[in-house]
Amino acid sequence: MDGDPTVIDLRSDTQTRPTAAMRAAMADAEVGDDVYGEDPSVNRLQELAARMVGKEAALFVPSGTMANQTALRALTRHGDLVLAGADAHVLKYEGGAASALSGLQIQTIGESGFFDGADVRAAVTPDDSHFPPTRVVCFENTHNYSGGRVFPFERLKDATSAARECGLSLHLDGARLWNAVVASGVSAPAWAEPFDTVAFCFSKGLGAPVGSVVCGKASALRSVHRARKLLGGGMRQAGILAAAAIHALENHVDRLAEDHANARRLAAGLADLGFGMGPAPETNMVLFDVDDAGAFHREARSRGLRIDPIAPGRFRAVTHLDVSADDIERALGIVEGIARSGIR
Ligand SMILES: Cc1ncc(COP(=O)(O)O)c(C=O)c1O
Repeated sequence: MDGDPTVIDLRSDTQTRPTAAMRAAMADAEVGDDVYGEDPSVNRLQELAARMVGKEAALFVPSGTMANQTALRALTRHGDLVLAGADAHVLKYEGGAASALSGLQIQTIGESGFFDGADVRAAVTPDDSHFPPTRVVCFENTHNYSGGRVFPFERLKDATSAARECGLSLHLDGARLWNAVVASGVSAPAWAEPFDTVAFCFSKGLGAPVGSVVCGKASALRSVHRARKLLGGGMRQAGILAAAAIHALENHVDRLAEDHANARRLAAGLADLGFGMGPAPETNMVLFDVDDAGAFHREARSRGLRIDPIAPGRFRAVTHLDVSADDIERALGIVEGIARSGIR
């Protein structure tokens, strides 16, 4: 048995264990040396991923961070400016990789992770040696820090068109792209269509233990492949991991709707208990406010509920494959007990 089954872990949708069926797929995976391009399972995954987002090619990489960083590196030159939404993962949570590894400066535009064509146009630097050349606009969908919100489709269309008119390249950090697809009803190819590169993760809502992918034109993917090698991301008999990712794509996409329903139920319960709530959940994240955050955090943990703050006084709960509707009721019971004890 993995972990303590009585603990409800809402810290992140990365807190999943591979299912028995996923483990069986991994155990049965055909493998080869993927650095030689000879792992049949990796090749199958890459073809499947590319097809599912309507792109020509895909490359399997170890993490979402590497997916973003290899894509940005492929689309830029050292010293370029990248535009991204407020609190973008590529800026805030990737260890400064874009500047440390690729000499990129990232400037945020818009609010709450979203922006329009006018924001893009206003931020593009003039052709003047004082300014870094603006090269790429990076979108994040769903947007993690704003609570898993879906980038409004028409705004995304407006912003991507403006970026193209300005001669910029486009990257989509779609770590949770499938949550956006399921929540919006807009297909993955429709979300992906304007972008040169599209990254998404298997190890978040889809429940695989490892891995992400970058999709795009074959020409762009050659540069991504070179960047993956440079960053040490070449993997050998990676088919064991690819098999988990294939299983996730084939079995765990539609069920994301359950995670979204669980998030809505959790938000409604927390609101009923009188907590200040963040934006209404659109996918699998719930943001809420707690005055006595330190005590709440400790007390929740001691009662078997794991949940973390993402900012002072603001907690983020994330639903996922290993959290059932019953777990959500139990979590609400735990929070009610904590609130009754005077901590809120
Ligand atoms: C929006 C977004 N992009 C990228 C990543 C990076 O993924 P990884 O942790 O696999 O590097 C995350 C991780 O949570 C994320 O939320």
